[in-house]
Amino acid sequence: MSSKFHNKILLGVTGGIAAYKSADLVRRLRDAGAEVRVVMSPGALAFITPLTFQAVSGNPVHTQLLDEAAEAGMGHIELARWADQVLVAPATANFIARLAQGLADDLLSTICLATTAPVALAPAMNQKMWSHPATCANCATLELRGVRLIGPASGAQACGETGPGRMVEPSELVKVLATLRESVLAGRHVLVTAGPTYEDIDPVRFIGNRSSGRMGFAIAQAARDAGARVSLVAGPVALETPPGVERTDVRSAREMRDVALDLAVSADVFISVAAVADYRPARPAAQKLKKGLPKQKIELVANPDIVAEVAALEHGPLTVGFAAETEKLKEHALQKLSRKSLDMIAANRVGQAGSGFDSDQNEILLITPSGEQNLGKGSKRKLAQLLIEAVASRLKDEEFENRSDKNNRPATGN
Ligand code: CTP
Repeated sequence: MSSKFHNKILLGVTGGIAAYKSADLVRRLRDAGAEVRVVMSPGALAFITPLTFQAVSGNPVHTQLLDEAAEAGMGHIELARWADQVLVAPATANFIARLAQGLADDLLSTICLATTAPVALAPAMNQKMWSHPATCANCATLELRGVRLIGPASGAQACGETGPGRMVEPSELVKVLATLRESVLAGRHVLVTAGPTYEDIDPVRFIGNRSSGRMGFAIAQAARDAGARVSLVAGPVALETPPGVERTDVRSAREMRDVALDLAVSADVFISVAAVADYRPARPAAQKLKKGLPKQKIELVANPDIVAEVAALEHGPLTVGFAAETEKLKEHALQKLSRKSLDMIAANRVGQAGSGFDSDQNEILLITPSGEQNLGKGSKRKLAQLLIEAVASRLKDEEFENRSDKNNRPATGN
């Protein structure tokens, strides 16, 4: 992949020992075609001088928020508007915490609040600081807001310890930044369902499941990051909407079906991550059921299969299902791929510690009618990005674009 890009990068440098590498980073970004302006935090000034950055960037370096001369030239709002991309490298634990809090007490944090450009951070800190729950929570908050974290890398640290916390090398940062600029789903409409559905038994009780919605929300965010217009249909979950995503909240499978079918007509891609209840009580009670009977029977009726209905649409979107399985992962996933006429299915194991529901980690095997791709184990965010890349390359696939009849594709499974 080419690392050439022609955009305006505002590089923030904060006070870590890795700041000395940022001068090399500026040089490499310029070699790749970018125009670079550098903003230094007060802490960074203790590690490297503005003169160095001025020389390598070819632009004046900005260090002060309340500086009359600077504000008369290119002030904080102009800088925030100027940037196509903000990259903070190195980003210290302190800077990450202040950004998560939304503080605007120096030039760099103020620009990060004022800009509409994407913000990426290359964290660099001692490995214990990186794994501290406070830093983890701050990073999670920032990621939910769409801030991209690049790294950190693992290895020997300046403090003498070994572990995760090293700033990703400048050559690698340039490569990653180039991929971030590639909007592989620009102009596409992606529809995602996420979370559980609740099927009412009476006004206070329901049948639900343990889906947290995190995988679906991560996929919605990854699709948005890839430039798509994203519609997210969410069951009852306690998650923030990723910025830029259009969300509709629903409760039951039938509500989810109605909203999803409406949106699917204009979607290029449908990713069905929701853990839809297969059955619902046939006759939800109008009043709270009272105890007293030795036995209580609830008759259940089948819910519509949303992903199968979308896959059956004549000019429907590329349709991706999820198979959450506790056993016979591949066999069951292949059956669902075939039975529901899906273009892809993401098979993931649930019901074990450290993966699936209620976890930030997952493991996915992506299966299509013509093959499979193991996306491996990782954070839901990382797997969501890989899934979106696979979907984007499938969309590019001419064979798919030119298909005239989806049902003529070779069947797999049994
Ligand atoms: N799905 C759906 N509507 C349903 C049930 C499932 O759209 N009523 C979708 C899920 O969102 C997922 C895929 O179908 O993308 C597979 O869901 P899963 O619960 O694994 O399979 P089921 O079809 O429900 O089969 P089973 O419960 O027997 O495993």
